[in-house]
Amino acid sequence: MPDAAPHRILIADDQTDVLEALRLLLKGEGYATESVKSPAAVIKAVEARDFSLVLMDLNYARDTTSGQEGLELLQKLQTIDAALPVVVMTAWASVDVAVEAMRRGARDFMTKPWDNPRLVTIVRNQLELGSAVRAYRRLEQENQLLRPGGKTGPTLIAQSPAMRPVLEMIARVGPSDANVLITGENGTGKGLVAQALHAVSARAAKSLISVNMGGLPEGVFESELFGHVRGAFTDAKADRAGRFELADGGTLFLDEIGNIPLSQQAKILRTIETGEFERVGSSRTFRANVRLVSATNSDLQAEVAAGKFRQDLLFRLNTIQLHLPPLRERREDIELLAQHFLKQHVARYSKAITGFDESALEAMRGYAWPGNVRELDHAVERGVLMAPGKVIRAPDLGLAAGQAAPRLEEMSIEEVEAFLIKKTLARCNGNARQAAEELGLSRSAFYRRLEKYGL
Ligand SMILES: Nc1ncnc2c1ncn2[C@@H]1O[C@H](COP(=O)(O)OP(=O)(O)OP(=O)(O)O)[C@@H](O)[C@H]1O
Ligand SMILES: [Mg+2]
Repeated sequence: MPDAAPHRILIADDQTDVLEALRLLLKGEGYATESVKSPAAVIKAVEARDFSLVLMDLNYARDTTSGQEGLELLQKLQTIDAALPVVVMTAWASVDVAVEAMRRGARDFMTKPWDNPRLVTIVRNQLELGSAVRAYRRLEQENQLLRPGGKTGPTLIAQSPAMRPVLEMIARVGPSDANVLITGENGTGKGLVAQALHAVSARAAKSLISVNMGGLPEGVFESELFGHVRGAFTDAKADRAGRFELADGGTLFLDEIGNIPLSQQAKILRTIETGEFERVGSSRTFRANVRLVSATNSDLQAEVAAGKFRQDLLFRLNTIQLHLPPLRERREDIELLAQHFLKQHVARYSKAITGFDESALEAMRGYAWPGNVRELDHAVERGVLMAPGKVIRAPDLGLAAGQAAPRLEEMSIEEVEAFLIKKTLARCNGNARQAAEELGLSRSAFYRRLEKYGL
């Protein structure tokens, strides 16, 4: 712990022996602790003093099995300080309650009886992340002050628990030069996150150069990326720099990376490894110092297995993998995003629209959004154009029928288990060993489940 003052952790459980065991364990790790026995006492403590983390049981005396008291407490804590990391504890038998807690903003969970080293690891990770997030917010605020008009780079709306790991990743790896591979369905915001990574990096003052690998015909691929010299081919009337060169000192964003023809992958790999390249038609070697961010909506591991993507190239690109959850897994953001797009389209079309009526909000909340944030953007645009009055109503949005999303309460145990595994994998950035460990499963048990659920 580099900080001068030790981290202070609030422990909440209604069982004295649990409190005592946790207190001794955490004290042994050098943390200051405070113990409380009821949800009311948690609120009182958090309002009175600063804590770095809350470690709390989900079940209290009033109602010992449903976890309802714990979930309510979690919600209250969120409204007091959304940045305060909360780790919940629950019996393994009620792991679905833990899943619900994660959905409502808990950062992580422990099953009881707990494993000491694992608990210490979770606490340490969450404390570190908490500091990173606070540093990121501070930086954001400073940037706001530095720029006239208070306009920062891209506005990334992400208040939902499902987006928290994404924000934490941006805060942690954005400033480094590590190559980042962004994965996610169409329209989840991969392009926007690439901008955010650039904006928080030391390269922010230099260019962010994008190339859509999906849109490049094979013939111009090389010259687009590496440039060409005059006379290299019929249309080459003058020397021209490629994207690698333009991005020198800045960030190169390779979008739709899954579409690079196999024949070109070796060339890119070499440039990534050495920073060197030649313009088409020249043998002079150039060097460029670029930070690579790439994005794909395909499963590159499967492409590797199918022989369509080089394993060694994938290894270079995905030093850090950042997964964007589909919009249906972060419903808390829907309304905020809708308001954000509303403002933009109202300005663009100069319409006097003030908001959405309840039917529109209801429709947006219940829709499955197969096209994710982009589809929401388009639906709001349509609403702005179609609404005859001052508010947008459900029919104005033109959402397809029969796309309502599944709800946790209606899911089977298998579906919940699959959901939990997916979530943990995403949190561990696809690291199966770590995910298995966090879930308390052996590797083989974990892989059996992956197979069972086709993950
Ligand atoms: N979290 C967000 N907050 C605000 N705007 C967002 C957010 N996510 C996406 N958008 C907006 O939604 C649109 C789609 O996002 P973007 O183009 O980044 O998605 P994508 O994942 O790159 O999609 P594709 O795979 O189709 O290229 C953009 O206009 C983007 O600005
Ligand atoms: Mg995109």
